[in-house]
Parts: sequence; C-alpha cells; structure tokens
Amino acid sequence: MTLEVHLDEQDLARTLRADVRAGLTATPKWLPPKWFYDARGSELFEQITELPEYYPTRSEREILTDRAGEIARLTRARTLLELGSGYSTKTRLLLDALTAEGTLRTFVPMDVSPSALTAAAARIEADYPGLRVHNIVGDLTRHLKHLPGGGNRLVAFLGGTIGNLIPEERSAFLGDLRAVLEPGEHLLLGTDLVKSPSVVVPAYDDAEGVTADFNRNVLRVLNTSLGANFDEDGFAHVALWDPDQEWVEMRLRARWPMKVTIPGVDLVVDFEAGEEIRTEVSAKFRREGIGHELAEAGFALDHWWTDRAGLFGVSLARAVG
Ligand code: SAH
Ligand code: AVI
Repeated sequence: MTLEVHLDEQDLARTLRADVRAGLTATPKWLPPKWFYDARGSELFEQITELPEYYPTRSEREILTDRAGEIARLTRARTLLELGSGYSTKTRLLLDALTAEGTLRTFVPMDVSPSALTAAAARIEADYPGLRVHNIVGDLTRHLKHLPGGGNRLVAFLGGTIGNLIPEERSAFLGDLRAVLEPGEHLLLGTDLVKSPSVVVPAYDDAEGVTADFNRNVLRVLNTSLGANFDEDGFAHVALWDPDQEWVEMRLRARWPMKVTIPGVDLVVDFEAGEEIRTEVSAKFRREGIGHELAEAGFALDHWWTDRAGLFGVSLARAVG
C-alpha cells in the first residue's frame, strides 16, 4: 500500500483558516462541507448510510449490485480511481467485478479524510491480494492533476457527493476531471435524483439524530483545530428543501445570541438568536440535467441506470476528444 499526501497538516490548517474566515464573516454565514470529515465525521457518515431514512446508499448499492459486471465489461478498466472514497464500501462491488473481468491492476482512492482512507485501504489490501492500492490524501477540487496515469482508467465518484459541490465548483470539477483523462476513459458518477421533499428531507433529518450530530461535527472540528469555543448545544440542526435550486440544505441555527471566539483565525463571531450557518448543499439531479453538464465538460453519457424505485441514478460517461 502506498500513501501520497497532498493535504498535509499545514495545508489543511491553512485552507481551513481561509474557509472559516471567508464563510463566517459572510452574510449569510456558510462553511464548506468538506470540514465535516475528520475521523469522527467520517464514522458518523458511515452510520448515516445505515439509517432507514437515508435511501441514497442502499439505492446506489442496488444499482451497482445489478450493473457492476456490465460496467466491468464495458470499461475493462486497468485502474480504478475513486474520488471522495471514504470507506469505499460499495466500491467493493466494482473491485469484485473488475477482478473477475481480469483487467484490474491498481486501485487509487482519493479523499480529504486520511483516517477513512487508511482504514479502508488496509481491509481492501487484505481482501484483494495482488491489487496495488495507492491512496491519495487530497481535495478533489484542487488535486485531480495528481491522479496517476496508466491507461484505461475508470474514475468512480459515488454516493451523490458531486451534489455537495456548489454549481460553480461542480462545473469546474467536471472540466478539470475531463482535462486529466484521455479520450475513451470513463467516469462512473452517482447522483441522487429529484423527488418529493417528503422523502428527501427525512434523509437529512433522521429520527435518531445521527445527521444532526454529523452536522454539529463541523463545530467540533473548529473547536479542536482552531481553538474555537462553539457551544454545540447552542445550535439546532436544520434540513430544508430548496425547490428552486432542487437541493437540500443543512444549516446550524443559533438557539440564542452567542459570541464565539476563534483564536486560530483571530476572529470573534457574533450570532443573533435564529441566525444560521449553511453547512452543506446536497443537490438532486435529473437525467437530462446531468447529461447536459457532462456534455458541457466533454463527456458522453453512454449508460444511465436507476434503482427500481427511481430514487438514485448512476451514469457511465466516456471522455470524448
Ligand atoms: N464515496 C463514499 C463516501 C461518501 S461521503 C460513499 O459513497 O458512501 C463523502 C466523502 O467525500 C467523505 O469521505 C469525505 O471525506 C470526502 N470528501 C468531501 N469533500 C471532499 C473533497 N473536497 N475532496 C476529497 N474528498 C472529499
Ligand atoms: C456525502 N454526501 C453525498 C452526503 C449527502 O447526502 O449529501 C452527505 C450527507 N449529508 C447529510 N447526510 C449525508
């Protein structure tokens, strides 16, 4: 197993400070969702994937269970690159199919969370003897240029994580990804689909409160990394459907007025009662929209699969010249 680090402690601290300064001095306040994922945040996300309300993971797993063999035959990938890989749980369906196809040599997961990466890689190495596992600690909005070459690559970006990028980041990301691929190489993209808010909102506001805990984890990250004194109990978890943007937003709403000191960025942040921080958007997609965005970036959407209930979509796209 090899580990390539493009986000060391210093870089993480510098980008976290820049994001916190920008987001918490803005009106309305915001924080980028990548800061949820310290070791505890990554574990909380895994717990979310098992909640009855959180349909995306089991829906995508259903699609991959049905289609992994076809994906392996269509791509015959030598290298599987996975972006925002986390614990790579569903990815095993692709690893199994590509191993059975006999083409796969190397697996390259990239994530901002070193703890999730290394835990996953140790298990994958043990379970797939002969597979080379090359981990990259990196930010998919900044470090795609470090993805290794090797020919006949398949990039998997699963879970609907593309929906956590704001639209400008999303088009920049797709353009950057196309730029590092050769014509004919593939992207397997998981996207959560537009559906009734009565299904979407509970997935982001579960009865057990795991998502609320995940949301508040960003405050713990700021307390630990920047010496901030956020009182977690002072913030309510909010999940809202935005029908114009077709995304669900997570916010943290101040229950009472607060003054928060953040020594790591030399900032004192005032909150009025009811004031919110937007901590995540999770965009939902339609087939036509995603086909259009892929085409704009230089990908042809060759195959589109959904689960039987039509909740989640997986696209197999090809880089075109
Ligand atoms: N792919 C897995 C995990 C999804 S959770 C699944 O489908 O279940 C989202 C993952 O993306 C987390 O592991 C998080 O650490 C990672 N992530 C979030 N923002 C990122 C970024 N900007 N660059 C790289 N990884 C990112
Ligand atoms: C990782 N990502 C696709 C999740 C989502 O559904 O947007 C993150 C998450 N946020 C709250 N619950 C899960």
